[in-house]
Amino acid sequence: MTIETIGVIGAGTMGNGIAQAFAAAGYSVVLRDLSTEALDKAMGTVRGSLDRLVKKGTVAAGDAEATLARISPTTDISALADRDLIVEAIVERLDVKAAVIKELDAICGERTIFASNTSSISLTSLAAHSAHPGRVIGMHFFNPVPVMALVEIIRALQTEDWVAEAVLEAAAKIGKQPKAAKDSAGFVVNRLLVPYINEAVYVLAEGLATAEDIDAMMKLGANHPIGPLALADLIGLDVVLNVMDTLVDGFGDPKYRPSPLLRQMVAAGWLGRKSGRGFFTYG
Ligand code: 3HC
Repeated sequence: MTIETIGVIGAGTMGNGIAQAFAAAGYSVVLRDLSTEALDKAMGTVRGSLDRLVKKGTVAAGDAEATLARISPTTDISALADRDLIVEAIVERLDVKAAVIKELDAICGERTIFASNTSSISLTSLAAHSAHPGRVIGMHFFNPVPVMALVEIIRALQTEDWVAEAVLEAAAKIGKQPKAAKDSAGFVVNRLLVPYINEAVYVLAEGLATAEDIDAMMKLGANHPIGPLALADLIGLDVVLNVMDTLVDGFGDPKYRPSPLLRQMVAAGWLGRKSGRGFFTYG
């Protein structure tokens, strides 16, 4: 099967980036969220991202307008009924995702594939909540989605071959490089990347260096494009903490213990860029 139409559920940081990536490649995208405010904000973010590309000369102004026009924001879940592929990027809670799967089961047809952008929930557990577990799969995108080339493709135990093939083809068509990862806590990238970020928070809490210097050292000494604390702010501290908790739960190994400072900052609502304050402050 070839995927022709897209639905995205959840218009937050990842959802609006995923919608933009598909729309830029010519797909019609229905973007669904619960509130019109969230949708307005998301469309503003997509416009900002496209404006940036137009200013740089990598995208023509007309193409940017056409990309925006291919995204239809809605609060109505029934607008997703005819979609071939629906990617969800909502809150990282199994019960909430399972409820959405059930809603979609009731309205979607036999062709619809349900992909989750989860960074921490087992796809096999999620698929078990669907009436069509063979059509559930993980498509894990990276932030900022319009820029990052990788999509991890995670098959649930139940995922059927045609579903994996169709999703791999669609990811390649939007210019991403899909790579398969097994359904294991953190998959591949977060298993490696997020403990590194967590360790940087320990280094900060132990007073080894300032936040600015920790980041500068990793940029200058390891050639990273961005330091670990600025990266935590970009990803969201709540997401970082959630991934660490998932690694502890998944492997039962204390080496994944989240930094107490990270937990405190999340409790304070200092979540990084999205809240205006994390390890650094944002205007
Ligand atoms: N939309 C469009 N273009 C964007 C963009 C956006 N939202 N954000 C950045 N860009 C483009 C810029 O236009 C620029 O393009 P150019 O190189 O062609 O001129 C390029 O990206 C670099 O941007 P900047 O010059 O503004 O800033 P940086 O050089 O610092 O790059 C970055 C920004 C691409 C975010 C870079 O810092 C980076 O690669 N950081 C690492 C990101 C990363 O590791 N992401 C993975 C996080 S893990 C994750 O998401 C998984 C989850 O489950 C936790």
